[in-house]
Amino acid sequence: VEDAAMGLEPRTEGLRRNLPAAIIIGVRKGGTRALLEMLNLHPGVAVADNEVHFFDDDHNFARGLNWYREQMPMSHPKQITVEKTPAYFTSSIAPERIYRMDPGMRLLLIVRDPTERLISDYTQVFHNRVAQGKATAPFEDVAIRESRVNLEYRAVHRSLYDEHLKRWLTFFPRSHLHVVDGEQLVHNPPAEVAAAEQFLGLPSHVGPDSFYFNTSRGFFCLRNTTHERCLSESKGRPHPPVRWDVLQLLRDFFREHNHRFFRMVGQTFDWA
Ligand code: A3P
Repeated sequence: VEDAAMGLEPRTEGLRRNLPAAIIIGVRKGGTRALLEMLNLHPGVAVADNEVHFFDDDHNFARGLNWYREQMPMSHPKQITVEKTPAYFTSSIAPERIYRMDPGMRLLLIVRDPTERLISDYTQVFHNRVAQGKATAPFEDVAIRESRVNLEYRAVHRSLYDEHLKRWLTFFPRSHLHVVDGEQLVHNPPAEVAAAEQFLGLPSHVGPDSFYFNTSRGFFCLRNTTHERCLSESKGRPHPPVRWDVLQLLRDFFREHNHRFFRMVGQTFDWA
């Protein structure tokens, strides 16, 4: 009211909620929150804080596009909106639904060593169950059955990047997908964010000044002109030690899938 009375533009002028131009589709425990927060340091980006679960959840999907738009943040006309829901990557229906909404959608996928991802996934569920007072079997007992990798364990299935990506590439051209190296995002965030900025058509903005290494966390934390902050404590938790022979079984199991994934994206990672 005061602004209007003084003949100034109200501060919300030009602000509205827009459908996303890019979606971080996964992979769960790949570093999706870090990627979203780091992109959010860019003034040309507005992010949805919560995982929206629109395309993977039939109940939400039935609420329609207006509901989806309502979940997005307010943004200026020059900003692009980004949401992240890691469950999309492994959803059988999400690729088609996203394509039907916007065949020009840009997809960001952040990956890490599938064995590490699996242990991280287990660790997250373990902590959630502990918080609920529930017991959890040791990692080895869940991931391995009768000396073989347990394919019924959903977290194993989530690490089969080739199988999930196949569905996306039946709808979207490779050029609409940008693959972020989760390991590199941990060790050299400016380089990985710069590549993502370029993919999104944004002028480069997030640089080395946007990060500082926090020795007690053991991770880079984020900085803008006024604030410094780290990701929540649930990100970057220690993993349980895993028996060497179990690691070997898992690495052998994922190898062929990894190579197929590398061929699909035309990129290699150091977890072959
Ligand atoms: P761990 O907890 O296994 O170490 P997501 O957000 O998709 O759940 O991914 C979580 C992972 O993000 C963490 O896995 C952590 O390794 C990674 N990560 C990447 N950059 C990070 C950062 N700057 N701070 C904390 N965690 C980060």
